[in-house]
Amino acid sequence: MNSKGKILVTGGTGFIGSHTTVELIQQGYEVVIIDNLSNSEEFVIDRIEQITGIRPKFYEFDLLDFNKLDSFFKENSNLVGVIHFAAAKAVGESVQIPLHYYRNNLVTMVNLLELMIKYKVTNFVFSSSCTVYGQPDELPVTENAPVKPAESPYGYTKQVNENILKDTIHSGADIKGIALRYFNPIGAHHSGLIGELPRGVPSNLMPFITQTANGLREQLSVFGDDYTTPDGSCIRDYIHVVDLAKAHIVAIERLIYAKNKNNYEMFNIGTGNGFSVFEVIKSFEKSTGKKLNYKVVARRAGDIEQIWADTTIANQELGWKAEKTLDEMTLSAWQWEQKYRAK
Ligand code: UD1
Repeated sequence: MNSKGKILVTGGTGFIGSHTTVELIQQGYEVVIIDNLSNSEEFVIDRIEQITGIRPKFYEFDLLDFNKLDSFFKENSNLVGVIHFAAAKAVGESVQIPLHYYRNNLVTMVNLLELMIKYKVTNFVFSSSCTVYGQPDELPVTENAPVKPAESPYGYTKQVNENILKDTIHSGADIKGIALRYFNPIGAHHSGLIGELPRGVPSNLMPFITQTANGLREQLSVFGDDYTTPDGSCIRDYIHVVDLAKAHIVAIERLIYAKNKNNYEMFNIGTGNGFSVFEVIKSFEKSTGKKLNYKVVARRAGDIEQIWADTTIANQELGWKAEKTLDEMTLSAWQWEQKYRAK
């Protein structure tokens, strides 16, 4: 089969990167992955092959290594685009070791853009986050809402990277870029072969729920029930990781086929619906039939009260819409967890 073109996916063995790689391959793209396996496992490459029947070429190295990255671009001279996921992403950890976050998330971005310019690779999709909005003044939040002072070094790296991309494009470099501002990705591929696999104790809600349900963790802590939301717990816009992966296909194709109106654009990638922590727990219990052991504890420092996306621009401009329900998200996360632990 003739490939539609070769795409570099950085962080392609990670949670969102692996799901996006599967979608790209199934759409007829050739994928090459660079990952340093700092927060992911090499067996993910086997799983991608099991799902798609095609094994993506895998390069294990760190994007901080400029010389290795230069050799990679030399060897892969015919890339049609880059989708950049590789980054450190734990909010709490970023407060403890900010310099690691600044070096790791910012220098890698600069390395990639410099080499894309050198090797004339023009299309770039960047993994951004709704964290850039902080607690928005108006909900749902649109792309035009002001970027608020970052709550953490992690959040700051997302803001700065958006600016690095925008400034590079506006400088006249031959680069077109899209930043996708993800809301809260959860769920897993329907095959149960790939999913979220945090190392150690999970800091995010969904893996903590699935690990509590299977007995790895004793109890889920609900961080606060005294917010000014209908049931007192925080509200987020949870999006199925496969819906999110599909947004990357339309984004890179918008660049490749020059359907973009501006050389730099950003889009909210969520469902447009907000759900509370208690609603996620209820959905999990309903969709899986498992009772969850949880208790309410104090608020977590740095959490915003509520956020969900206005996705009008993404729906209209990208022709993309999230399709999966919260029950499908919680059930697929559980199926992945069970299948993985049973291996
Ligand atoms: C945060 C970041 C997001 C980032 C993500 C990656 C913000 C606003 N969001 O998402 O940009 O991509 O981390 O790590 O900075 N909760 C519990 N108990 C738990 C865990 C979580 O009650 O054990 C609650 C939290 O209080 C929150 C919700 O569940 O209300 C979701 O939390 P989490 O999954 O950690 O994601 P965010 O903090 O929203």
